[in-house]
Amino acid sequence: MAKLSDPISVIAHQLKNPIAIVREYLEILKSGDMGQLNIKQLDYLNDAVKNIDQMKEIISDLLDVSKVEGGVYKIKKEPTDLVRITEQIIEEFKILAKSFNCEIIFEKPEKLLLVLTDLEKIRDVIENFIFNALRYKNIGAGKIEIKIQKKENNLIFSCKDRGVGIPSSDSKKIFSKFFRTSKAMQIDPTGTGLGLYINKAIIKMSGGKIWFKNNKDKGVTFYFSLPLAK
Ligand SMILES: Nc1ncnc2c1ncn2[C@@H]1O[C@H](COP(=O)(O)OP(=O)(O)O)[C@@H](O)[C@H]1O
Ligand SMILES: [Mg+2]
Repeated sequence: MAKLSDPISVIAHQLKNPIAIVREYLEILKSGDMGQLNIKQLDYLNDAVKNIDQMKEIISDLLDVSKVEGGVYKIKKEPTDLVRITEQIIEEFKILAKSFNCEIIFEKPEKLLLVLTDLEKIRDVIENFIFNALRYKNIGAGKIEIKIQKKENNLIFSCKDRGVGIPSSDSKKIFSKFFRTSKAMQIDPTGTGLGLYINKAIIKMSGGKIWFKNNKDKGVTFYFSLPLAK
């Protein structure tokens, strides 16, 4: 548990229940058990559920942040197949990538190599990298290149995009909580700026590093490294 004196954590905890209840009622309405719905009504309900789910994610991020700050954020360290997880995530992102007019390319090592990290939490890191690469771009076709490479006793994961990039004046703040570039806020006002902050905690606690570089031509490449399981 995070410190109860932390107001963010208290509010986030208090919001969890009412949000779960609202979601439950929306699902009951959607099921049609309380009366048949027309297409427009179903559309509105689906939109409401989507927004409730977004709220749930924000609350879960806020709780994670308060745990990181309270020094009580816990991660497991288990041998993890990063390639398999990445393949699953790319598959799950397929439809979204298409809607962003983006192609995702994946380059992986031939041999099975396991790293030590938290299976579930590393998913969040990879999903955030890919989702950021997808959405922080201008209109038009995009390409995302994901690579997993072995370097000495580590695996290095990289996600390269051709997006709007990060101004050099902002580069020091990118992993700070709540920080978002003005371009990102314009493109998508719904982000929280908490993803990379939590990602950094996960990677650091796994004994790895996280960083990014501006590409020479366009966009950025985000990286993390993780120690190989012996
Ligand atoms: N691939 C990217 N291209 C451009 N900007 C990025 C990229 N990834 C992250 N950023 C910048 O870093 C900020 C923080 O990212 P993140 O912590 O994931 O929060 P969020 O995506 O909710 O804004 C983003 O708002 C954006 O300004
Ligand atoms: Mg993000």
